[in-house]
Amino acid sequence: MIKLLTVIGARPQIIKAAALSRAVELVYSAEIAEKIVHTGQHYDDNMSKVFFDEMNIPKPDYNLKVGSGAHGKQTASMIRGLEEVIQKESPDAIVVYGDTNSTLAAAIAGSKLHVPIMHVEAGLRSFNKSMPEEINRIICDHVSTLLFTPTEAGYFNLISEGFKEGNDGPFTADNPKIHHCGDVMYDNILHFLEQANSACKLFEDFGINKGEYLLATIHRDNNTDDPKRLTSIFKALNRISEEMDLQIVLPMHPRTSKLIKKNLDPDIYKQLKSNEKMILMPAVSYLGMLALEESSKMVVTDSGGVQKEAYLLKKPCMILRAQTEWVELVDNGNAVLTDSDENRIVEAYATLLNKTDYSYPDIFGNGKAAIFICKEIVNTLREDKK
Ligand code: UD1
Ligand code: UDP
Repeated sequence: MIKLLTVIGARPQIIKAAALSRAVELVYSAEIAEKIVHTGQHYDDNMSKVFFDEMNIPKPDYNLKVGSGAHGKQTASMIRGLEEVIQKESPDAIVVYGDTNSTLAAAIAGSKLHVPIMHVEAGLRSFNKSMPEEINRIICDHVSTLLFTPTEAGYFNLISEGFKEGNDGPFTADNPKIHHCGDVMYDNILHFLEQANSACKLFEDFGINKGEYLLATIHRDNNTDDPKRLTSIFKALNRISEEMDLQIVLPMHPRTSKLIKKNLDPDIYKQLKSNEKMILMPAVSYLGMLALEESSKMVVTDSGGVQKEAYLLKKPCMILRAQTEWVELVDNGNAVLTDSDENRIVEAYATLLNKTDYSYPDIFGNGKAAIFICKEIVNTLREDKK
């Protein structure tokens, strides 16, 4: 039996981990035993517990309860806690997801104890090291043993950083193996979409007009923490809702709920609160979010995961960032980079609305990425045990 230690902590990685846990339970239960560590990076019920409940993710075996804090302090507490768990459990490998501080901490703690790191969602680059996530991704990739890229662009980023293709095992952090396997978030959409659409009460509860609203999420630190950028984004949203007579639905990350009060220009904040077409709500569950995405007219976001889901659900998307690691979405004309610029956001809305020649090639694989990942982990670790 192979013992895998899965490390999660932030909302998107709890969601991604659901796909792998499902594959382990349904197909690989005779070969893989999974232990789960939650770092506690996200802790509100609607940022953590709700996903375990509705996506049937096994309850974590450990919760390090690190909570929020400055990057160094938060990451250091995670490394410390993870080191103890890894020493106690002696796993055959550690599975990490994406690019958060929880990912970085697990990559550092595990690689220093010589436990192979399996990085799901490897290879992505925004080429902007002022993003904490870019630093986390690069470091994690370069201490990993198996790297699973969701897109072709991710795979070629790794090649250009010196990773080899077609190399033979045994695979180690010094001789890593890279795989392009598609995106586990697509696996989740295929599994949960029908349930999401049938279970959603948000439309009724908030008086949302199905098919006739713009869905918005904003949580990146450079947008929420900078009063100028945050104000510019909300000016644009207010303008679109007024000029187009359009509802804007905004499920809010707790970071955003806290910072709109502090960082928004007071007049824009007042306008936001008095505009009946602006529908503000706390962060919703995964099923709630899928339903909101599926029935939206368009999406505007600075989230990595929400950009992808918009594409997979065939919705145009405005990206509130200067660059994206999901370059295919922009290259294919499904998404537009607007950064936080008020006019660019308003113009992009009109451009995407009037565009008619959308196409949706299979950028994110075939919906079976988690099975592929389990198979490669088992094959690699079995070879090692021989
Ligand atoms: C983190 C990730 C980011 C990811 C996002 C997903 C890093 C560096 N950033 O950003 O890549 O896109 O998660 O959502 O790891 N808070 C609460 N309750 C919670 C969680 C957070 O109130 O349950 C508030 C706290 O005020 C906290 C702030 O949100 O200080 C930021 O949380 P943190 O986990 O540090 O970063 P995120 O912005 O969530
Ligand atoms: N999401 C959610 N509820 C929300 C907002 C987002 O369940 O209120 C989901 C979304 O559907 C996607 C994931 O969270 O699956 C994206 O995570 P997030 O935006 O927090 O982080 P990022 O992908 O930018 O790292």
